[in-house]
Amino acid sequence: MGNDFKATDGSADKKINKPKLVVLTGAGISAESGLSTFRDSDGLWEKHNVMEVASVEGYQSNPELVNKFYNYRRTELAKVEPNAAHKALVELEQYFHTTIVTQNVDDLHERAGSESIIHLHGKLTEVCSTANGNLIKDIGYTMLNHPEQAPDKGIWRPNIVWFGELVPQLEVAAEKVREADVLMVVGTSLQVYPAASLVYYTKPGCQIFLVEPNEVLQNDFDFIHVKQKAVEGVPNLVHKLIMAFA
Ligand code: OAD
Repeated sequence: MGNDFKATDGSADKKINKPKLVVLTGAGISAESGLSTFRDSDGLWEKHNVMEVASVEGYQSNPELVNKFYNYRRTELAKVEPNAAHKALVELEQYFHTTIVTQNVDDLHERAGSESIIHLHGKLTEVCSTANGNLIKDIGYTMLNHPEQAPDKGIWRPNIVWFGELVPQLEVAAEKVREADVLMVVGTSLQVYPAASLVYYTKPGCQIFLVEPNEVLQNDFDFIHVKQKAVEGVPNLVHKLIMAFA
């Protein structure tokens, strides 16, 4: 990490010269808040069949079960709080044009105070109509009763992007990644596409940092591995980036 982030005139109008930074987050960033990841031992996909509760086919064959799964996760979300990693990311906004691109359906980045957040896989606190994906309603942490009719004659369903569905926010996120000077990747196994493909949209010279406590086998893109849990690694990295820029 050199002087790449220094404002051009030394003191500078940092507002104009702010570098662009994207943070791609996954379940690992919320683990220390108490929300389970998916693919770790004891993760959600150990306890639930992913195709039953997170796919279009699963919803079509048993909507009650799928609805119950997301009602449960919404209840769990209401009990937890953002952690030091979510909070540290907010500090970046003073020094970088910061966009959070999250695969998480929790609202912990919002509650921590981040301003620009793209939810690739939807939001637990929202439902959308089966008749029209554009009709969305915020239900907070309340239960969705199935079947509950939406005004357009569809049925309200969790506003989650399931396997077998398009990722509507992908192109918006890809554009942010293309422009980024720095990409931080935090707490994701990078196993789910197209979200995982975002790391390949970076421009030449974009520095990529990966905050991941475990070994990383993937080596087909250049990154600096911060081998720590998000609650330690993210605040450390945020402060290093701010020092490099300030
Ligand atoms: P995964 O469960 O696949 O990966 C979580 C990653 O976080 C793993 O690499 C862990 O090693 C790492 N991890 C665990 N604890 C951590 C900690 N305290 N700090 C930092 N990292 C930690 O979760 P995602 O990659 O987010 O999609 O999964 C991607 C998508 O798969 C999810 O959005 C979800 C799921 O199926 C849908 O349901 C549509």
